[in-house]
Amino acid sequence: MRIDIISVVPQLLESPFSHSILKRAEAKNLLHVNLINLRDYSINKHGQVDDYQFGGGAGMVMMCEPLANAIDDLTQKNGKYDEIIYMTPDGLCFNQKAANRLSLKENLLIICGHYKGIDERIRQQYVTMEISIGDYVLSGGELAAAVVVDAVGRLIPGVLNDETSALFDSFQDNLLAPPVYTRPADFRGGKVPDVLLQGNPKNVDEWRHEQSLQRTKQRRPDLLEGEL
Ligand code: ADE
Repeated sequence: MRIDIISVVPQLLESPFSHSILKRAEAKNLLHVNLINLRDYSINKHGQVDDYQFGGGAGMVMMCEPLANAIDDLTQKNGKYDEIIYMTPDGLCFNQKAANRLSLKENLLIICGHYKGIDERIRQQYVTMEISIGDYVLSGGELAAAVVVDAVGRLIPGVLNDETSALFDSFQDNLLAPPVYTRPADFRGGKVPDVLLQGNPKNVDEWRHEQSLQRTKQRRPDLLEGEL
């Protein structure tokens, strides 16, 4: 999978993709993340990519031309994108289902907004999907893009060492994950449940499923709506 990310502060995204699972995904040639500095497409030698908003009001708006030129150029070089995603708090709320769906794509472009956001006409003319990572406002779309790339990247087959492990993540089947334990078996009086120490796979599976259900009922009953 190829993911291109357009940003005015691409440096913000260098670290998240240079470590751990996503670094391994790059090394295995399963995922390529490319950072594009929008200023490379600015309209003048001052590197301008934003301007005052029509109608007045505080805050700058990211201009059409640099974004359109960047998207056109990238599309010409890399082929048509499966989705052109704009990170914005007024987008659709990101969840595991969306991550699963995006992990099946080959070629994604993500636009990170800054300031007041991007000119509406870019949303109308280019953007195919708008994603929010939650009901709060970040100072830019970069950290939100990093969240999406992480959640999607780890679902690409072969990225995780133990291929089955993503299957048991929270949300994968609308259930939260069960509790997990490692050594020691007794930590300051806190005991690991016997069923896990005994290690009978069928009993362990049943126990984990039961714990997942209980935890979901307690913490996120909304996930079970329509499921029971
Ligand atoms: N940009 C600013 N806030 C955001 C959010 N909550 N989700 C996605 N992009 C954003």
